[in-house]
Amino acid sequence: MKIIGTGCSHPSKVVTNDMLSDLVDTSNEWIMTRTGISERRVISSEMMLDLAVEAARNALDDAGISASELDFIIVANVVNEYVTPALSCILQGAIGATCPCVDLNGACVGFIYGLDMAEAYYKAGKVKKVLVVCAEQPSRMLSWQDRSVCVLFGDGAGAAVLAEGDNIKATRLTASSNYDKLYQMHELQPSPFNTKPSTDLPLVMRGQDVFKFASKASYADLSALLKETGKTADDVSLFLLHQANIRIIENIAHIFNQDKAKFPTNIQKYGNTSSASLPILLDELNREGKLHHGDLLALSAFGAGLVSGACLLEW
Ligand code: UT7
Repeated sequence: MKIIGTGCSHPSKVVTNDMLSDLVDTSNEWIMTRTGISERRVISSEMMLDLAVEAARNALDDAGISASELDFIIVANVVNEYVTPALSCILQGAIGATCPCVDLNGACVGFIYGLDMAEAYYKAGKVKKVLVVCAEQPSRMLSWQDRSVCVLFGDGAGAAVLAEGDNIKATRLTASSNYDKLYQMHELQPSPFNTKPSTDLPLVMRGQDVFKFASKASYADLSALLKETGKTADDVSLFLLHQANIRIIENIAHIFNQDKAKFPTNIQKYGNTSSASLPILLDELNREGKLHHGDLLALSAFGAGLVSGACLLEW
């Protein structure tokens, strides 16, 4: 397939590092030097659906197609206000589409999972136009009293429209069940038959373990894709990495011996927006005219699972 349009949407509320230092024992200096984050957007009055719909509409406008032309909608999302129906199904009606739709929980790798699924359906001859939307609100999963977590994340949505083409050159997904490293558990409705204790826990992250996994996984995924396609890191125009920590991104640039300018970032403004991170970055670069016909883009993401994924695509 080929990406023919991108879009994104951010909550209106900006939360700066200084605002966080009023809530927890932290500082702008600690957050900037350890993560590269200066501020993030956080959901206040918006619903997750509002952001998802706006990102989807922006991507459809950019693609120059109407929602009725879509054959399939994939929404990557970890939590939203509805347990059921799927966010993709609510979004389908809101944007005026009529095609089948499905949600996937791929944590921070949701966008790469979405691209891979879209490509597989396309190759099976089932679809020609697919909308992938990533909409996430980690701000409602974490404790705002936990300084090791609340400074890292932000909310947002990103989207891409895919159509017929041969621009996705290769994708790779990995999963290893290490769920104690990064997880959240929430309480379900009471049941007179439930005998288990309460399981309401905000987001827990073993930061250093995840940091090591992220660096190794991103390097392994990107190396495997370059090998598979007969390319080298020098052939890549831009590396778009999941915006989790500027130090992970700089590590990868260093390991591949590539100029940091080939690793665009927006973590400064948005923090880690989970699966929305890559499509938001892609949309910004697209709208700023920084993506050129024929550019080779290397996308890489990692997250809770632990899972990782990468994609090589030609713009
Ligand atoms: O999207 C999913 C993927 N997620 C990631 O890739 C995240 C990967 N991990 C990381 O980015 C980093 O591990 C963190 C940013 C989470 C933490 O950075 P770190 O350099 O690994 O710090 P640390 O956890 O080793 O903590 C160092 C110190 C500790 O104090 P002591 O024990 O040395 O006295 C922490 O308590 O920093 C303290 N600390 C803070 N201090 C000020 C932790 N959070 C904060 C904070 N402000 N917000």
